[in-house]
Amino acid sequence: MIALNTTAVAWVIFAVVTIGWITYYFLNNASARKELGSEVEMAPNRKPYYDDETLEGRRLERMQFLGVILLATMVIGLPVYWILEPDRQAGAIDKKQEEFIGWGSDLFESTANGGFNCSGCHGGMKATGGQAPYAVTDPNTGDVRAVNWFAPALNTVFYRFSKEEVRFILNYGRPFSPMSAWGAPGGGPMTEQNIETLLVYLESIQIQPEGCLTDTSVTKDADPYVCDGGTLPATTQDEIQKAVDVYLAANPGASEGEALFNLDLASGAYSCARCHTQGWSYGDPGVTAQGGMGWNLTGGATNSHFPTEADMISFIKAGSVNGKKYGMQGQGSGRMPGFGHMLTDEQIKAIVEYVRSL
Ligand code: HEC
Ligand code: HEC
Repeated sequence: MIALNTTAVAWVIFAVVTIGWITYYFLNNASARKELGSEVEMAPNRKPYYDDETLEGRRLERMQFLGVILLATMVIGLPVYWILEPDRQAGAIDKKQEEFIGWGSDLFESTANGGFNCSGCHGGMKATGGQAPYAVTDPNTGDVRAVNWFAPALNTVFYRFSKEEVRFILNYGRPFSPMSAWGAPGGGPMTEQNIETLLVYLESIQIQPEGCLTDTSVTKDADPYVCDGGTLPATTQDEIQKAVDVYLAANPGASEGEALFNLDLASGAYSCARCHTQGWSYGDPGVTAQGGMGWNLTGGATNSHFPTEADMISFIKAGSVNGKKYGMQGQGSGRMPGFGHMLTDEQIKAIVEYVRSL
């Protein structure tokens, strides 16, 4: 509406100016023709001008007064503008952010509410994790089976992925899973701007981290939700520990690393098995860690890309980066999340010891 009005006003001004110039052109032409040749006697610079009396009287005062007014405008106006401008800019950014959150949440809504149903699969508008109905084909028998596939919680997605990595997931989806490609580059229905608003919406629903609530200047990838040293809040960490205990009770003799690898949170958000064990996401796991979307991790320490335990720990903390090599032969795609902000150092060490024993 505002854009419409501004455009309309601009058109009116443009029309008036154009018509004005055209009229001036013709009037000027016409008057010039009448006076053709007369400038010899009546050159404009030889016309008599005001005499001194007029020039130095009220006319001069009026000009001086105008000058003072202009000077005062600059002296007061410029500093006021300088003082107010940062606030105006911050306000404009806030407003844009707010609008994007609104648009993104419209897209995130369930089908019934006119959205693309992200909330339907990912566990509501706060995206705390859910399940998606899906059909898998048995590679041996060719039978098609209906399953429920874990859709991870997204209220922690920026703890493990950078904004560009999440943009990639939204654009291209996760092939062979219920998560389809949403962006135009992946053949989906959404424009670049739609995807951007979804990202801003996702940022707005992130769980607030512990350790950097006040100092948002220490940020990773300019995301205020994750900062160096910032981790999941204690309540969420407690949930992880509870899930570990449930796993250990059900699997006597299992190590803490094994539990964390296979963690059975309803959301499936923190588990490694979700990506590294075929079928784990829909309740029909194959051999643990033998590879799904993520690579086969079995073969133990000797078969690993990481000569030492410490190398592997730092890889899992940071995750992979698209185009960047890792370990000895690894080629990162950016699809392996970083767990440094989601799990404690001890938890990651326990997982690595478990993985290297496989
Ligand atoms: C039909 C159900 C379904 C819909 C609709 C859906 N997703 Fe997903 N999404 C999934 C599943 C299942 C996964 C996990 C796939 C896997 O196992 O790798 C996933 C994965 C993701 C991931 C990666 C998270 C991670 O940590 O690995 C993001 C981000 C995501 N979805 C965002 C969205 C957004 C935004 C929308 C709406 C435009 C959306 N999804 C719509 C089912 C869905
Ligand atoms: C969202 C899916 C996903 C999750 C969850 C995930 N990974 Fe990965 N992982 C990958 C992908 C994909 C790769 C391959 C590297 C790449 O594409 O950048 C990988 C690679 C790896 C590698 C390197 C393998 C090699 O030999 O090159 C290790 C080790 C690993 N992951 C361990 C883990 C552990 C431990 C966890 C749980 C804390 C985990 N991953 C959770 C997707 C995932």
